Amino acid sequence: MKITIINGPNLNLLGKREPDIYGTRTFEDYFEELKNKFPAIELEYFQSNVEGDLVSKIQEAGFNSAGIILNAGAYTHTSVAIGDAVSAVPSPVIEVHISNVFAREEFRHKSFISPHCNGIIVGLGLDGYNLAISYLQIQHSS
Ligand code: DQA
Repeated sequence: MKITIINGPNLNLLGKREPDIYGTRTFEDYFEELKNKFPAIELEYFQSNVEGDLVSKIQEAGFNSAGIILNAGAYTHTSVAIGDAVSAVPSPVIEVHISNVFAREEFRHKSFISPHCNGIIVGLGLDGYNLAISYLQIQHSS
């Protein structure tokens, strides 16, 4: 079973970026923990700051993975193209946000992606990715 984690803009700066909001851990470090936690799952990680690259990766993984975990960063609140890509692919997509976007500025309350996703995990820190993998695993084996 393959699961693809896709992170959008500025999430390459986790650990350094606004640590009061996003924590002090790098995603690369956390990804190692995820791989150890789910040895039976083939986990793939992709990050880009470029909207079109995220669309292309959703298209590719959406036909080749058992599920996508997508944190599109700020593109969540602006990108019709990423929302369209999510609805175009057959694999389930779980939207994750590290911070509780609903407790932040109003422009973060709108997501162009949520309507096309199977579910959303918001505000639980990096644990949101772990929970999304667990959900996809349960769905895949049921
Ligand atoms: C984020 C929330 C977005 O509003 C923000 O632009 C991000 C990160 C999160 O994971 O909390 O880059 O997606």
